[in-house]
Amino acid sequence: MQTHQYDVVIVGAGGAGMRAALEASTRVRTAVITKLYPTRSHTGAAQGGMCAALANVEEDNWEWHTFDTVKGGDYLVDQDAAEVMAKEAIDAVLDLEKMGLPFNRTPEGRIDQRRFGGHTRNHGEAAVRRSCYAADRTGHMILQTLYQQCVKNDVEFFNEFYVLDLLVDHDLAAGDVADGEEVNVSGVVAYELATGQIHVFQAKAVVFATGGAGKIYKTTSNAHTLTGDGMALAYRRGIPLEDMEFFQFHPTGLAGLGILLSEAARGEGGILRNADGERFMERYAPTIKDLAPRDIVARSMANEVREGRGAGPNKDYVLLDLTHLEPAHIDAKLPDITEFARTYLGIEPYTEPVPVYPTAHYAMGGIPTNIEGEVLRNETDVIRGLYAAGEVACVSVHGSNRLGTNSLLDINVFGKRAGRSAAAYAATAPFVELPDAPATTVEAELETIRTRGDGERVADIRRALQETMDANAQVFRTQESLTQALADLKSLRKRYQAVSVQDKSRTFNTDLLEAVELGFLLDIAETVVVGALNRAESRGGHFREDYPNRDDERFMRHTMAYRRPLASADKPAGDGAFDHTEVFDDYQLVLGSKSVTVTRYQPMERKY
Ligand code: FUM
Repeated sequence: MQTHQYDVVIVGAGGAGMRAALEASTRVRTAVITKLYPTRSHTGAAQGGMCAALANVEEDNWEWHTFDTVKGGDYLVDQDAAEVMAKEAIDAVLDLEKMGLPFNRTPEGRIDQRRFGGHTRNHGEAAVRRSCYAADRTGHMILQTLYQQCVKNDVEFFNEFYVLDLLVDHDLAAGDVADGEEVNVSGVVAYELATGQIHVFQAKAVVFATGGAGKIYKTTSNAHTLTGDGMALAYRRGIPLEDMEFFQFHPTGLAGLGILLSEAARGEGGILRNADGERFMERYAPTIKDLAPRDIVARSMANEVREGRGAGPNKDYVLLDLTHLEPAHIDAKLPDITEFARTYLGIEPYTEPVPVYPTAHYAMGGIPTNIEGEVLRNETDVIRGLYAAGEVACVSVHGSNRLGTNSLLDINVFGKRAGRSAAAYAATAPFVELPDAPATTVEAELETIRTRGDGERVADIRRALQETMDANAQVFRTQESLTQALADLKSLRKRYQAVSVQDKSRTFNTDLLEAVELGFLLDIAETVVVGALNRAESRGGHFREDYPNRDDERFMRHTMAYRRPLASADKPAGDGAFDHTEVFDDYQLVLGSKSVTVTRYQPMERKY
């Protein structure tokens, strides 16, 4: 076992992690640990843009952006956080521009802006051009730009290191740490892929920026690596996960594959049509039509298919029509995604509509934080020295449904804030003593899986998990479908206890790490399904056919999911509607709740 000591350790090298690293590394000794190489992080797959009310091409302002974000999130957004994000968006874009990001330009040389779903002028009058972009490679450009800056600033990277435990000085998972008691982070434990060695990083501050968990679903826009690691590690250490039932389905995945086709296609004028050639979004969202927020568009598409108006031999997708756009416009603005249609479906988007269907895209929930990026262990208490930003976190700027291009914005605004807070804290805080034998649990778990004889195969359990999530916890949900998902997850957890790997080696053992990641996926799926079963209402990305209306009286609160030992009698704060405990074989999932911060906008009916 090797040990390292840094003031700030950042886990994850996507946009949020590297933005945090840039901020922290100017003040204190900073390391970034990533299970990939930084430029392979999933931020690189983000396509359409990063929004900010620059008003470069038409009238706009941050207050309209804040309102759209709150309404888009169906009023479960913490409005103080949304306001911070919309205000700081402008500088966040300009910072990237100054770092050299090659944004598309207007003929006058200003940063160009395009339309995206749910972004409107004057509280919903019409779609507004708010998203700054670099063709359909905006995430790729952000990732490259931030990486170059990190290299320039001598940020130290530990690549292909898997963080497998979070070290804190109290056993929160036992459920017996009193509210208000001081809890401190002391570091993380990581596994080095190339050598199989364990490394302990002692740190005054740790920032989690590990991204999402889209691989709980089979049809997803997410890369193979999006396995919810940071969320699951926090959860296992007794930190709650917030609003996990809200998972976003991006309307336009390539049908049957889930590969992302940017919403920018509709921002540039693309139209969704059913098998009859009808522009069906005119019926569902008469004002902004194809540019309604994603939850509404995804549900409308699924509804067209359910009612028999789907296209194709099995009537199981709808069509994205770009054929009325000039080929030169398509080539300039949407080069990558049109190439995806050609490569993966053999479709020529100049002349043929592209088959599309919703694909699991984004976790609105995650590790609860405040607007400084500090991690909360209940409604109010922070864990000293622990921060989170990006998709792994839930600062709740997205509420129950995120607007397109608010994600690249979120990682920049809250990545910077988390990095700044972590550095400020680490500049004065002492190192917290590591526990005795900090890596024992991780080493024992890895060895148990690695050396187990015949057992359950990782791929079999993962496939069953993804299939039940696709079938039962998708765009439409019911008590019945979710109960089925829960029963399947309970049986998969039992099977996971016998998981084994074929590769018994100690170096480059990706088989072993996939087994570990599968454990994370199961944790996350359980929180999604239990939260969804409990939330007997429909809001944003969570649509219960048996409860089709929003119920502000009972459910205008954030769900908090706590993992506790079977013996624990801890009952986190909640209210009647969130009073639920689900018992699994070796632990219980206890729900609580947390209030929603409302500043400017009282909840209204959500219409577009
Ligand atoms: O459609 C897209 O380009 C995706 C953007 C996002 O998720 O924000």
